[in-house]
Amino acid sequence: MKVSRRSHVPPFAVMEVLAEANRLRDAGASVLNLCAGEPSTGASDVVRRRAIELLEHGDLGYTESLGVPALRRAIAEHYDRWYGVEVDPARVAVTTGSSGGFLLAFLAAFDVGDRVALARPGYPAYKNILRALGCEVVELDCGPETRYQPTVSQLMEAYYDGGLDGLVVASPANPTGTMILPAELDAVASWCADHDVRLVSDEIYHGITYGDTADDAPEALPTAARYVGEGAVVVNSFSKYWAMTGWRLGWLVLPDELVGPVDALAGNVALSPPALAQHAGVAAFSPEGYAAAAENVARYAASRELVLSRLDDLGWSRVAPADGAFYVYADVSGDRLDSVTWCERLLAEAGVALTPGTDFDGVRGGDWVRLSFAAAPATVAEAVERIVAWRRTL
Ligand SMILES: Cc1ncc(COP(=O)(O)O)c(C=O)c1O
Repeated sequence: MKVSRRSHVPPFAVMEVLAEANRLRDAGASVLNLCAGEPSTGASDVVRRRAIELLEHGDLGYTESLGVPALRRAIAEHYDRWYGVEVDPARVAVTTGSSGGFLLAFLAAFDVGDRVALARPGYPAYKNILRALGCEVVELDCGPETRYQPTVSQLMEAYYDGGLDGLVVASPANPTGTMILPAELDAVASWCADHDVRLVSDEIYHGITYGDTADDAPEALPTAARYVGEGAVVVNSFSKYWAMTGWRLGWLVLPDELVGPVDALAGNVALSPPALAQHAGVAAFSPEGYAAAAENVARYAASRELVLSRLDDLGWSRVAPADGAFYVYADVSGDRLDSVTWCERLLAEAGVALTPGTDFDGVRGGDWVRLSFAAAPATVAEAVERIVAWRRTL
């Protein structure tokens, strides 16, 4: 029987690395996993305790499609607390991870044939989902001169080259970790509003920043929530800052005209986001929840320092500025191996799993690898030693 053409999305190369890492580990090898893009700690105690109470006494039936009111309110208040931006809880849609949020936002905002721009390198699911939905993806070649973030001049070029209906930006980004500076986001958002281009801003790594780029004052934090009144969509998640990957909880902040469509789509696609995660997720916004997340960020900061202090020994002279998230994206082409072979050999010969850049960049990814320092600091430290020693054998 026929399989749809739209379902032919490319698999992630990292899945093969992971499968091989697991195979080696099962066979008794010592394997350090620095390819997973997830915190090793899991949800904070306050969220776990609340989940236990709810399992014993809670009502865990279907919820409202856009999420339980208490969580929508807590998310809205988070914007005031962090950014000094007023968000109406009615514009917040709780979703099954930001991944579920993307699907709903793209379905609500774009039609088949619409042209949507995004940065290359970038998180591959955006383009794979957009293509599966019949959109035309316009990849913007982004390099170090723009912190791997799209610029207004690139948007103008794409716009005059065939029209543009949408733009997806991510800051801090995956795999580069780079941030879009407040003035840049302002320029991009205004340009999008003026040209009827729907801006979708992935802010899933917000909170995981290291203070090198922007003033830490809330009004300096570049959130597109400031531009929702002009049509922008914000996507966020409990997965990274709150370390709740498997809880499958995320959210959207929507412009008025998309609230109804997302509500209807959400009800049809998934009825509601997971009830247990939603009710327990409210506790993530408690002082204890924020404190646990901040402790995680302090640990990532220590691991990041460690990796950055060893760049010379690693032979990584070209790395993207690791402003945020928990990644170092490095050019390994000097080792004269393509990044897939580089990662395969590093795993087989030194027991360290990194992600080849080919997952994020179909043009130049063969030169780059992504190291995730979200693992425990001792694991990151040992992995760096192993990579340094392994490179001497090349
Ligand atoms: C940039 C970015 N956006 C979105 C996601 C999806 O995360 P989730 O669906 O767990 O919220 C990821 C996951 O790694 C990511 O790196």
